[in-house]
Amino acid sequence: MDKKAEALIAAKRAAGYKAADLIKDGMVVGLGTGSTVYYMIERLGERVKEGLHVRGIPTSFQTAMRARDSGIPITTLDDDPVIDIAIDGADEVDPGLRLIKGRGAAHLREKCVAAAAKQFVVVVDEQKVVKKLGAQVPVEVLPFAVTPVLKDLERLGCKPVIREAVKKDGPVVTDNGNFVVDCQFKEIKNPEKLEAAIAAIPGVMESGLFCAYTKKTTVIVGGEKKCKVITLPDIVA
Ligand code: A5P
Repeated sequence: MDKKAEALIAAKRAAGYKAADLIKDGMVVGLGTGSTVYYMIERLGERVKEGLHVRGIPTSFQTAMRARDSGIPITTLDDDPVIDIAIDGADEVDPGLRLIKGRGAAHLREKCVAAAAKQFVVVVDEQKVVKKLGAQVPVEVLPFAVTPVLKDLERLGCKPVIREAVKKDGPVVTDNGNFVVDCQFKEIKNPEKLEAAIAAIPGVMESGLFCAYTKKTTVIVGGEKKCKVITLPDIVA
């Protein structure tokens, strides 16, 4: 492994471990998805083995499997509709703590869990921190409505592309049985407006724009030596 890849892993591990150490005994924890959350689950698993009592709500099949392997007890939004802390990764974070998520096609459940959480902790490495959101926006779409949804998304100013699977022929099918459409916009002038406009299209389940949770968000930016912790008051002040 080259030095750059090693540094990236160290940054993800540092952010994930720091987030896991915020979890207190008895908490219900939203368990996000992805390669940074992987390290949070690793550390949380260690803490559970040391005697910490938590219940985790996974946002994907992948996370559910990892949590089970790590000995973290699993619960559901039905049994625990209020989450004390949700910890998740992101593809981009802007200075207002708005996010683009969904590289791993888990953003629908991730948004349900973020919405139900009292505190939302986002774990990233420095490459994800941007001045302006500009990555492609993943949109989970009901297969029944995919053609009209593609037309509506195009009208919003992007080139929508149905995400193709890698080890399966045809489209990615999410954990919820839907398709994912990736939308590259030339410019995202107003993320809140764009999130609302996408959500208003019939057949759209959720987009990867996360603009509504900034006030309860803490971003942990992993670095090789130490982590930077950002909350909105830090920026406003
Ligand atoms: C899952 O669909 C995504 O929202 C991930 O949480 C996000 O892409 C961050 O993943 P990584 O930590 O693997 O970059």
